[in-house]
Amino acid sequence: MNETFDKIKQQVDALLASEQADLEEIRIRYLGKKGELTALLRGMGKLSPDERPIFGQKANELRAYIEAALEEKKAEQKKAAEANQLKAERLDVTMPGKTPILGKRHPLAQVEEQLVNIFLGMGFDVVEGPEVEYDYYNFQALNIPENHPARDTQDTFYISPKVLLRSQTSGVQVRTMEKQKPPIRVISPGRVYRSDEVDATHSPMFHQLEGLVVDKGITMGDLKGTLELFAKKMFGNDTKIRFRPHHFPFTEPSAEVDISCFVCGGEGCRICKGEGWIEILGAGMVHPNVLRNCDIDPDEYSGFAFGLGIERIAMRYFNINDMRLCYENDVRFLKQF
Ligand code: DAH
Repeated sequence: MNETFDKIKQQVDALLASEQADLEEIRIRYLGKKGELTALLRGMGKLSPDERPIFGQKANELRAYIEAALEEKKAEQKKAAEANQLKAERLDVTMPGKTPILGKRHPLAQVEEQLVNIFLGMGFDVVEGPEVEYDYYNFQALNIPENHPARDTQDTFYISPKVLLRSQTSGVQVRTMEKQKPPIRVISPGRVYRSDEVDATHSPMFHQLEGLVVDKGITMGDLKGTLELFAKKMFGNDTKIRFRPHHFPFTEPSAEVDISCFVCGGEGCRICKGEGWIEILGAGMVHPNVLRNCDIDPDEYSGFAFGLGIERIAMRYFNINDMRLCYENDVRFLKQF
């Protein structure tokens, strides 16, 4: 009897000695319903009553031994598998990495962001208006009635006689004043459209940034101070500004504003085409008619407005000589900024 048990024990030990031992197979072979140990137990009936308890005890001991040995081997195999996996997945951290190609913001977006940040710093809010606009907001409410010659310089694309693609961001002034009563201090960047032929300085779509301040007692001095601070922040502390008289239907008085050239400082160079000054925007005191159109009493309130072309500033800022480059999305161009 002891021999049989010992033999089974030895067989199990031998089977489990192999690293890849199939534990389930061993379990079935010895402990399964048709297993060898089970078969021995079945034959117990043939033994004498004296032998039976001893046999039973031995058999139980062997079963416990096999079960424990299987468990132990299982744990061992699991550990070995984990170790193998770690080994296989090991990273060589000394290998040279691949540099990811990082995109960049478009030069126009960079300049717009810079402009917006400067005005946010001065307490302006950003407002937006629709690109598909009513003739009323783009022209009429801005003191440009039908057949006014100022419309010629801003010919645009018409969706219907009363609806067009806005030719300027100035309409957002009107939309803002209709909704909000003074004090008002807003800027409005965005796309505008004109039916212009494409060339180095023209595009049927470009970007503007509008500014509007309305309150009691706003003067041309406020306009000058605001634009001077803006110019210094944008182009450097030594920048000077110059107002030249001009005409816009929605401002009175109106001016075109130049900055001293930020490259030569006013001496004259390639960037300023030898003039020492660079025109950057149009501005003026909001026309009383425009205030009236928005139900704001011009005897009580006054305001200033300005509008600038983002392309024009970006082209000067980055020394870009052809506006078309801004829209071609050629990486060789874009990655220079
Ligand atoms: N909207 C004008 C344009 O497109 C620019 C402009 C000039 C805007 C004077 C203003 C302003 O707000 O006061 O040419």
